Amino acid sequence: MRKHNFGAGPGILPESALKKSAEAILDFNGSGMGVMEISHRSKDFEAVLAKTKSLVKELLNVPDTHEVLFVQGGASTQFAMVPMNLLKTKAAYLDQGAWSNKAIKEAKLMGEVVVVGSSKDKNYSYMPKGYSIPSDCDYFHITSNETIHGTQIKDFPASPIPVVCDMSSDIFSRPVDVSKFDLIYAGAQKNMGPSGVTLVIIKKDIVGKHGKTIPTMMDYKTHLENDSLYNTPPVFSILVCMYTLEWLKSIGGVPAMKKINDEKAALFYGEVDSNPMFVGTSAQEDRSPMNACFLLKDESMDEAFMNAAKAAGIVGIKGHRSVGGFRASMYNALPLESVKVLVNVMKEFALKTA
Ligand SMILES: Cc1ncc(COP(=O)(O)O)c(C=O)c1O
Repeated sequence: MRKHNFGAGPGILPESALKKSAEAILDFNGSGMGVMEISHRSKDFEAVLAKTKSLVKELLNVPDTHEVLFVQGGASTQFAMVPMNLLKTKAAYLDQGAWSNKAIKEAKLMGEVVVVGSSKDKNYSYMPKGYSIPSDCDYFHITSNETIHGTQIKDFPASPIPVVCDMSSDIFSRPVDVSKFDLIYAGAQKNMGPSGVTLVIIKKDIVGKHGKTIPTMMDYKTHLENDSLYNTPPVFSILVCMYTLEWLKSIGGVPAMKKINDEKAALFYGEVDSNPMFVGTSAQEDRSPMNACFLLKDESMDEAFMNAAKAAGIVGIKGHRSVGGFRASMYNALPLESVKVLVNVMKEFALKTA
């Protein structure tokens, strides 16, 4: 029996993708070799890379102006790679929580950072709004979904300068207009596949304009010119991404996924709002459908609730230490059924302790 996995990342993956991946570890395409044992320059792997790339393009409607890259080092390396490639004098950042803070820290190593808005005053429980984006900055950096604080940008701001977006925790969960972004990046390990590969979708005409000497592997140009094959890519991670994206396509793609995600979120937040024992921690209008942060009003009952959840096969709901309480991550592959199980545990917990 698989667990009801509400972990924040690495997150749950579709069972069909895991089964195919398990087979490919031993014997890939009947080759008598596992996928981790074949050359990344073999025909078999080239086909995997090409298919994964075309699935990303198809599922997100990536326009011809943009290219899809697979790099390594996680989204955390993108915190540095973005300013290394794009920051000439100063860049604008939105301070939305733990992840944007890490991005800001790296950008400050490479130039001036203008923080245009912040929600630090309320422990990042809402998305900053009403800010203006200075037109004299090189780019504007945002995080579409704050994984730790459970908030999401619902409407992306119109920007006079290129927009760079960290979509690590909500990519493929809802349709986005890729043409509005000059660069999107995402660590794969929530909605796309396993850790080890990082997706970058970049507008081709911004690549290689930095005029600086930067390490080869940190230059987007290297990966663009070499079709993500400058060095050995994370072969297995990319294959699991391919199977995961095939699953996403088979259920109707991103619009169908959004409907399911909305249903899961409505069910879960509906319970948080109506159950007298619980309270949500993020502002209603900014609530993330991917990561729902919530508290028991009586903290002394945390352990009892955790035990009740565990008994029902639920894992991964402990909140991040900076927010406390609980966090239910409802990534794409988490079935609606799992949310129903969690909601029932919450209902029963309230009945028993009333
Ligand atoms: C929004 C966001 N950005 C960046 C990261 C860091 O990703 P990685 O571990 O791939 O460096 C995470 C990880 O959870 C995240 O949720």
